[in-house]
Amino acid sequence: MARAAVSPSWRLSSLLVLTLLTGAQGQAVIPTVLPTLPPLSAPVAAEPVGDSIFPALGQAGLDVLNYDLDLFVDRPGTSELRGTVVLTVTATKLLPVLSLDFLGPQVLEVRWNGLAAPYRHDQTLGKLTVAPPQPLLPDMRARVTVRFAGQVGVRPDPDLPLNVGWQAVPALGGRVGANFTLSEPDGTRTFLPVNDHPSDPATFTARITVPAGYTAAASGVQRSDVAAPNGGRTFTFEQAQPIPTYALAIHVGRFGRVDSAAVPVGEGGADVIRRDYFPVGVPAGTRDAYVSTGEILRVLADWFGPYPFSTYGSAIVTPRVPALETATLSTMPVTSSNVRVLVHETAHQWFGDRMTLADWSEVWLNEGFATYAELLWAQAQGETGDDMVRGWYARAGRNQTRPLVATTESELFDTTAYIRGALALHAVRMTVDDAAFKAYLRGWVSEFSSQPVTTADLLTYTRTRLGAKAEAALRLWAESPELPPMPQR
Ligand code: TRP
Ligand code: ZN
Repeated sequence: MARAAVSPSWRLSSLLVLTLLTGAQGQAVIPTVLPTLPPLSAPVAAEPVGDSIFPALGQAGLDVLNYDLDLFVDRPGTSELRGTVVLTVTATKLLPVLSLDFLGPQVLEVRWNGLAAPYRHDQTLGKLTVAPPQPLLPDMRARVTVRFAGQVGVRPDPDLPLNVGWQAVPALGGRVGANFTLSEPDGTRTFLPVNDHPSDPATFTARITVPAGYTAAASGVQRSDVAAPNGGRTFTFEQAQPIPTYALAIHVGRFGRVDSAAVPVGEGGADVIRRDYFPVGVPAGTRDAYVSTGEILRVLADWFGPYPFSTYGSAIVTPRVPALETATLSTMPVTSSNVRVLVHETAHQWFGDRMTLADWSEVWLNEGFATYAELLWAQAQGETGDDMVRGWYARAGRNQTRPLVATTESELFDTTAYIRGALALHAVRMTVDDAAFKAYLRGWVSEFSSQPVTTADLLTYTRTRLGAKAEAALRLWAESPELPPMPQR
């Protein structure tokens, strides 16, 4: 029915798209039954999500439900990667073409529901455009297969101490090579074709094949570990709850898995499987912080509600990089292997990985809550936390401040996002008692996890749940150009 209603326009745009779509890279894989098409002269217009910080990311109206990956890391420690990903997609509006973010390896083949489809891969623009045989309509599902091989893409980031995306740790001085993902905000597109925006979280299945002697780990529960034809092994992981693309963890290296007792903090008291991965040869003391993981989960689940995934742990990495809250498997550098950082990344499992952002400008909703968790943990250890709050306030005062919603990329992970963000939550807490504040935090997670969130959502929720005084406190901390006075009861 919907199709009949839109028939004239989709026919037209579909034709237009086919005319535009076939580039030199596309030609090789298009079967002879397809008409020969002139080379693509201009990029096909597809509307991006409309992020205020990254206006080119994602595709408006595209809803990826699942990414099913088959990755082959033939030479760990290098930037070489090959594989196939099958995206299960649907749409919230008519899409004449699919426009995926992809800076990564050369595309070898694209299929739409199993049939070869015309495509264009612009590695400079970072877009892979695919022409379906007919437009994707709301409530229709399609399987889009992309096969690729070569060198991963690079996404330079002057605002972070590393280029986000697929990381290569070269073999050096007896140490074997390793690879891992470190992708926030938009690095997943360096190695996978994705709708690379947090407003479109999806489930993942990852089969990762590595050479003999190597181990692979990824977000989600390990389903199998079998011998691969190359003499190596294939590890399969299933991330059955949706996560944003940047939160996908993949690790390849020589490391050992340490299993610990499950922690009953899942939905309805369900067991959360506990595993951590330590690279062979890390200093023995590196393990100390991770002994606290179970207790951290208990304390945070008490404040935030049930842990939202089936498994949790850390993958420890050797390079000096910032820690990242990769879903179900925080990426923890040896140099940041302390309890405070672990608490922060664990809190992100609720704030960022389960609850996702509607726009990158709202990233304080991740960082402010994760930073606030550091105070909740200190208080659970019997500290008053007063020093921490005073320290935050002093630090916020020493740095430039701004309203919480960011306006530039360089603001995304600044002191305001972390520290002023945490102080804003403290200001809300100071208007009520701790029981009310706990119910407020738990309600925020349980009521707002099914759609991407904004500061406006939090303001409305704060008023509904805690009243006008709490909302006014949050609004002052969210919107004032200056640093508001120290929050007090
Ligand atoms: N979200 C991370 C944290 O606060 C910080 C971060 C942002 C990051 N982008 C990153 C870390 C890229 C590593 C790589 O814990
Ligand atoms: Zn953080």
